Amino acid sequence: MTKLLDGNMLATEIRSEISHTLEKEILNKNKRIPHLGIILTGNNRSSITYVNNKIKECKNIGIKYSLIHLPVNTLEKKLLEEIKKMNQNPYIDGFIVQFPLEKHINQDKVILTINPTKDVDGFHPENFGKMALDMKAFFPATALGILTILDKYKIKISGKHTVIIGRSKIVGRPISILMSRRNHPGNSTVTLTHSKTPNIEYYTKQADIIIVAVGKPGFLKGKMIKEGSIIIDVGINNYEKKILGDVDFDSVNGKASYLTPVPGGIGPMTRVMLLKNTLIAALNNR
Ligand code: GUN
Repeated sequence: MTKLLDGNMLATEIRSEISHTLEKEILNKNKRIPHLGIILTGNNRSSITYVNNKIKECKNIGIKYSLIHLPVNTLEKKLLEEIKKMNQNPYIDGFIVQFPLEKHINQDKVILTINPTKDVDGFHPENFGKMALDMKAFFPATALGILTILDKYKIKISGKHTVIIGRSKIVGRPISILMSRRNHPGNSTVTLTHSKTPNIEYYTKQADIIIVAVGKPGFLKGKMIKEGSIIIDVGINNYEKKILGDVDFDSVNGKASYLTPVPGGIGPMTRVMLLKNTLIAALNNR
């Protein structure tokens, strides 16, 4: 029997933990309410949905937000100016620039311009480097969401073999670092596979835990996994008016021991982790 890991339920639990800390450490002490900045460029439909969901989360929990929505043809210079304004604005505790960006904008420059103390996405090299060195830092929200769901369901990852499919800077790369770090939760043996890995099945069949973040609906099939493995599906793919994960749910269901559903798995966990990082940024600031 496969047990579904309920991201919606867990996100509700974490929201109430955040609310409790917000009340105890900020509201009761008459401190300023945390404030998240969001910079969105262009008209990418998925990005607009993600940002709207992030805003909903802020409203729901009582965290302030400011959205700067720039048109599709915004020059890189203008975007960098908006980032610098967020860096300098003392009322913004943390902010994000929603990815992907338009092709004419250099993503590296954007990330390097964000003040690391306000980088609640954890993408700046200072945070990314600290993460790789087992130091305290902002960790990317999706990776934190994955670690948290595994931890809360008491799934042991220490000593287990984790195979990650996809090496993106947003998910694959950071989760490979966090799963293998010398800390709890961590200590997993990690294999990071990607588009140039021949015969991915060879690796996935040996895995105790598989984390799939490739953006291809139904990529991981039941025949590619071993009986009893734990499957984390990070995919959110719009397919024929439905939202599908990167896992072929029907063939994996029944063979895996645990599986995150899409929707309702890693998505809600990612959103609450951004709020958690924003609260931490605010507490660091006060
Ligand atoms: N695009 C897809 N996921 C993310 C994320 O976690 N942060 C940002 N900034 N952009 C994204």
